[in-house]
Amino acid sequence: MTRKLFVTTALPYANAPFHLGHIMEYIQADIWVRHQRMSGNEVHFVGADDAHGAPIMIAAEKAGITPQEFVAQIAAGRKQYLDGFHIQFDNWHSTDGIENHQLSQDIYRKLKAAGFITSKTIEQFFDPVKNMFLPDRYIKGECPKCGAKDQYGDSCEVCSAVYSPTEVINPYSVLTGAVPVMKSSEHFFFKLSDEKCVEFLRAWALQDNRLQSEVANKCREWLEGEGGLGDWDISRDAPYFGIEIPDQPGKYFYVWLDAPVGYLASLKNYFGKIGRDFDAFMADPTTEQIHFIGKDITYFHTLFWPAMLKFSGYKTPDNVYAHGFVTVSGEKMSKSRGTGISPLRYLDIGMNPEWLRYYFAAKLNAKVEDLDMNPDDFVARVNADLIGKYVNIASRAAGFITKRFDGRLGAEDLDAKELMQTSFAAITEVKEFYEAREFSKALRKIMEVADHANQYVAQKAPWLIAKDPSRDEELHRVCTTALVLFKTLSVMLAPVLPQLTQAVGAWLNCKIDRWDDALVPLQANHQIGEYAHLMQRVDIKIFDQLFDAPVVEAASTPVAAAKISASSAVTPAPRPSPSNGEGEDGGGIEALAPEIKIDDFSKIDLRIAKIVNCEHVEGSDKLLRLTLDVGEGRTRNVFSGIKSAYQPEQLIGKFTVMVANLAPRKMKFGISEGMVLAASAEDEKSNPGLYILEAWPGAEPGMRVR
Ligand code: MSP
Ligand code: ZN
Repeated sequence: MTRKLFVTTALPYANAPFHLGHIMEYIQADIWVRHQRMSGNEVHFVGADDAHGAPIMIAAEKAGITPQEFVAQIAAGRKQYLDGFHIQFDNWHSTDGIENHQLSQDIYRKLKAAGFITSKTIEQFFDPVKNMFLPDRYIKGECPKCGAKDQYGDSCEVCSAVYSPTEVINPYSVLTGAVPVMKSSEHFFFKLSDEKCVEFLRAWALQDNRLQSEVANKCREWLEGEGGLGDWDISRDAPYFGIEIPDQPGKYFYVWLDAPVGYLASLKNYFGKIGRDFDAFMADPTTEQIHFIGKDITYFHTLFWPAMLKFSGYKTPDNVYAHGFVTVSGEKMSKSRGTGISPLRYLDIGMNPEWLRYYFAAKLNAKVEDLDMNPDDFVARVNADLIGKYVNIASRAAGFITKRFDGRLGAEDLDAKELMQTSFAAITEVKEFYEAREFSKALRKIMEVADHANQYVAQKAPWLIAKDPSRDEELHRVCTTALVLFKTLSVMLAPVLPQLTQAVGAWLNCKIDRWDDALVPLQANHQIGEYAHLMQRVDIKIFDQLFDAPVVEAASTPVAAAKISASSAVTPAPRPSPSNGEGEDGGGIEALAPEIKIDDFSKIDLRIAKIVNCEHVEGSDKLLRLTLDVGEGRTRNVFSGIKSAYQPEQLIGKFTVMVANLAPRKMKFGISEGMVLAASAEDEKSNPGLYILEAWPGAEPGMRVR
């Protein structure tokens, strides 16, 4: 029986581009969805931007645009990531869409009619300058426990204490700096504490096979913990970017109320486009609703969301599958520490999206475990397994079929009968692993088959058979068998490598769309196309370009034994060198220049220069404009290619060394009257930084350096 599946991933906040964690989640869900499609199931896979909430409203205001314009700009950037990583959503929508307004209000009305909404007047901090109630994160002050300054209104980063904003000492508004005042306001609550609700959630969450066991255990703790569930505050006061609460002017739904409704809204929007009946689909008891999410938002998806749906008479989710977090080389992703990876840069520098799909798949399982992205490990998996084991089979057999047999397949090798059978039997197992989201196990099984196929090819050694013209038929059989095995492997890898396996299908002139396609034999005489190389290996060096530039702390960085170079040299932004890259830290330095006499040296007039001003050069991503005082009673204008290493304000007031008798040079941005010196490593990989020189205290502008 074909299944009817409605599959979603978490709706990302529309305040920033995607990061690697988002992409991992989409790849996980996409692999599962492709497996379902290959099984012939009906799947509707949708996503959307989570547009509402105070942070987005405030960010838009800062940018001087409306929140709608702000989220539209973010939305416009989504497609390139999704297409780039072959993520096949049927629809991408926004929680600010009309469908979401209607559905959220409808759910609220039904909850209210069923007696699940109460209201209560609460006191909250209010910013009297901005005229708005302040979310906890927008209040700062001294920690009530340890006295640390500038701590958030809900917790202290110094002593880890958790408290309420009213306990904070000397609180201030992050938005305006004003002292917040207490103000009361009516709030609406969803009665999660209602006995019926708790009873429903217990049955829902603990049902067999609904949640991962560790998630179900967490739910039990939440449900049975001290005090049980509290009622949930679902309203916010204007100004707020969100959906208005029916019949309550000036009150809006808290973003987490309407966000998951966005799943339904995106599906409804999609069904509107393809002319399908949304209500009928959702009312169908055989429809399965499945949410892929990250571990941090489990609470919302396994308590609030099913309860909201249940008591408003909607269908409740069948499964919620939580994944862990992506870390990079064992660390939390962080832009400032240089461990952030921009998925867009990954694509821009020419890294293959299917390497990443394969790598994530090789590390994903059905548990809520964090997943570490590590360059060495990445290179090993991709090169050794994907290329070395899988692609290798095709490249070893393909040439002979083209050159010697006119691109036509022959008979299969009867010696390989058992191997063929094992490869078909593996499909059943692999399918079960995909179904259970045990992708790493699926790939391990597939690579096991690939190992056997490689052993077969190695043992038969077609390159040796090919030398003897009387063994043509044998050569034909062996290469045909290798390609049939390769096709079977390709079908099994299709959910992970959609683009590559489509290319294989086009080349082998066969379909690779369904699981059943693996069983369609390639008959003798079947014509295949010319083999083109399917995939490149990864070069570890490319990771140098992948990592975000860390924030440079020029003053505290030791100067590497290095050459003194003209600092207008073109240099890439500083990056950390890969932790275990192909290290050549042999301690050697750049070879010395040919020997010179003292007279040669004295031709160069080096002077102490005071950097009296420094600014960016409009239109240049390399240069800074320096205004230098060399004690001449006038200043000099010098352009220097050190923008990648310094912020202008870091340099102003410093004393450095310049070449003062260099002929003035006309540049695109003006005339440069000299050159400042900076150290850099010959091998940028070992240390990509640039380090300008600083004089000891006491040196004065104009002093000669000799
Ligand atoms: N807007 C909410 C979700 C609303 S769902 C109705 C949200 N957005 S988010 O942009 O912060 O996160 C979106 C998804 O990305 C979540 O599933 C979250 O767990 C996941 N991830 C965020 N950082 C992650 C990693 N470092 N690694 C893996 N997934 C991560 O939460
Ligand atoms: Zn503290």
